[in-house]
Amino acid sequence: MRSQDHQPLLDIINIDKSFGALKILKGCSLKVNRKETVVVIGPSGSGKSTLLRCLNLLEPADSGAILFDGKDIAGDLRNAPAVRREIGMVFQNFELFQHLSAAENIMLAPMKVSGLSRSDAHDLATDLLRKVHIPEKADFFPDELSGGQQQRVAIARALAMKPKLMLYDEPTSALDPEMIREVLDVMAELSSDGMTSIVVTHEMGFAKRAADQIVFMESGQIIENATSEDFFSGTVNERAQRFLDQILH
Ligand SMILES: Nc1ncnc2c1ncn2[C@@H]1O[C@H](COP(=O)(O)OP(=O)(O)O)[C@@H](O)[C@H]1O
Ligand SMILES: [Mg+2]
Repeated sequence: MRSQDHQPLLDIINIDKSFGALKILKGCSLKVNRKETVVVIGPSGSGKSTLLRCLNLLEPADSGAILFDGKDIAGDLRNAPAVRREIGMVFQNFELFQHLSAAENIMLAPMKVSGLSRSDAHDLATDLLRKVHIPEKADFFPDELSGGQQQRVAIARALAMKPKLMLYDEPTSALDPEMIREVLDVMAELSSDGMTSIVVTHEMGFAKRAADQIVFMESGQIIENATSEDFFSGTVNERAQRFLDQILH
C-alpha cells in the first residue's frame, strides 16, 4: 500500500468562492476517504454545483485548499487538464456530443488524451457500455436514446479515463420518473465496487442505499455532515432535519 493510501482521497479545507460581490461558498471543508460515497443535499442556490465545479476546476476556488490524492489543486486552473483525467463528472443534462454515437462519445477522451488506438478505445467502450447495462446501444446517437440511456452513456464516458473520483451533479433531475432507477442502480453498483463518489441528489433512497456520508449545504456552508446512519435516525441539526422532512413529504 502506498503511503498516501492512508490519507483521504479528497481533503477540502476551508474553501471560499465568490462571483463578483456575491459570496457563494463560505469556508467549506470536507474529507472524502477512498471508496466512500458522499451524498450532498441542500436547497437550490446553496452552492452544491459550485462546490463540485471547484473540485474539478471548472471554477477556481478563491481561497483554501483542495488536497486531491495529497496534492493541492485549488485555485490554479492550469491543473485542470490533469485533474479532469482523474475526476469524472456527470451533469444533469448529460452533455453528450450529439454528433457522436454512444461508443464514440466514450472513445473520444481515451483516444485524444491517453493516445489509445481506435480499436483499444472501442474495446473499452464496449466494456463500459456493458457495465452500464446498454451494450446494444453502442452505435446509437444520443437523440436515439432515452434520457436514462443517455445518462448511462455519460457515466460510461466519465469512467473511460479511469478516474479516482466521480462527481455527479443532480444526475437524475432531468429524467422521467421511470428512468431514475436505472441510473441510480448503475451509480450504486459503481459505489459498491469501490468508486469514490460525490453525488448531489435529493434521491434519498439512493442516499440510504449507497451513502457513507451525507452533507447538508445551506447558503454556501456545510451545515451538517453526518454518517448515513445518524442522518436517517434523525440525530442531525434542526435545519437539516427540516429540509429532509420537506423533500421526503
Ligand atoms: N457563474 C456564476 N456567476 C454568478 N453567480 C453564480 C454562478 N454560478 C452560480 N452562481 C450563483 O451561486 C449560487 C449557488 O449556485 P449553485 O452552486 O448552482 O447552487 P445549487 O447547485 O446548490 O443550486 C446561486 O445563487 C447562483 O445564482
Ligand atoms: Mg446545482
